[in-house]
Amino acid sequence: MSTNKNTGKPVDDLSGVETTGHEWDGIKELNNPLPRWWLWTFYGCIVWALVYTIFFPAWPMLSSATTGVLGYSSRADLTKTMSEVQVGNQAVVSKIAELPVADILADPELNRFASAAGESAFKVNCTQCHGTGAAGGPGYPNLNDDSWIWGGTIDAIYTTIAHGVRSPTDPDTRYNIMPNFGADELLDAASINTLAEYVASLSGLEGGVNTPEGAQLFSDNCAACHGEGGIGVTDVGGPNLTDALWLYEGSLASIKSQIEKPRHGVMQAWSEKLDDSTIKELAVYVHGLGGGE
Ligand code: HEC
Ligand code: HEC
Repeated sequence: MSTNKNTGKPVDDLSGVETTGHEWDGIKELNNPLPRWWLWTFYGCIVWALVYTIFFPAWPMLSSATTGVLGYSSRADLTKTMSEVQVGNQAVVSKIAELPVADILADPELNRFASAAGESAFKVNCTQCHGTGAAGGPGYPNLNDDSWIWGGTIDAIYTTIAHGVRSPTDPDTRYNIMPNFGADELLDAASINTLAEYVASLSGLEGGVNTPEGAQLFSDNCAACHGEGGIGVTDVGGPNLTDALWLYEGSLASIKSQIEKPRHGVMQAWSEKLDDSTIKELAVYVHGLGGGE
């Protein structure tokens, strides 16, 4: 170990660098000072931080924090931005409130606005039953496909949302009750079997058998609501039975159980909870999901 002639400090032989003179178990610390540029950046940061705390909210106090001489607050900022957006949207919102829903759909600017607003309203009110992507689930119809129980025109969708389906509190609700063919003994077990097999055959389900007896029974008992050949009647909410898109499970067993003792889906009338503009926005959004007519 040599020493620096000018400072008299020890110098490490191997690297030729001065050491700090500290030593632990024979290991010595080289005295490599921090680079200038690094140090000055560091001091700069400290100065900047101090200046920042003067101008902006920074130091925590007992119940609040220093406000800073500029008086900035992110909450005030948000309120300002929101009121600006509200003023900007006012014209569009009042148009949506006034116009029939079909006119909103036809106007590209209103359509875009209503669809975006409808999407957020859908997330809040509808996803728990119809799913986040509106793909539905057993008992809750998929709203993306072009198979509509109650009609897929913009006016039909608007009416369904506003008045609900089998809503007990809305006299204008969508309403149709499939008879209890099994439980009320309108058909015997053999006929129900034949019918179920016939219905299953319409969409090529496993176990489906297309017989003339089945077709006759269907025409006599089911066509009034489900249409000749089972193509569905949207005016009365009789689902299409030929399209392999099922409200309920879609198997021979579930078809049989629907004929024996039908289930009836219920959706509340949304006009009781949401304002008319929101329902129009929802209708435009749902119509735009892919299956609107
Ligand atoms: C509590 C569950 C539930 C909620 C929440 C719900 N729905 Fe429904 N919706 C249903 C059921 C059940 C049906 C099917 C009724 C039937 O069996 O015909 C339905 C049917 C529909 C239909 C008719 C589909 C067709 O094929 O004709 C539309 C459109 C619709 N819902 C839109 C909405 C919108 C928009 C919202 C949110 C504002 C919403 N739904 C919220 C349960 C719900
Ligand atoms: C008075 C009208 C009416 C008659 C008659 C009727 N249905 Fe239905 N049917 C409906 C309605 C409405 C639904 C939808 C139930 C719901 O929305 O919850 C339905 C649903 C069904 C479904 C379930 C469809 C799906 O997508 O899951 C099947 C299967 C079915 N009916 C078969 C029949 C058969 C077979 C007959 C004849 C024996 C028949 N229906 C007679 C009104 C009727």
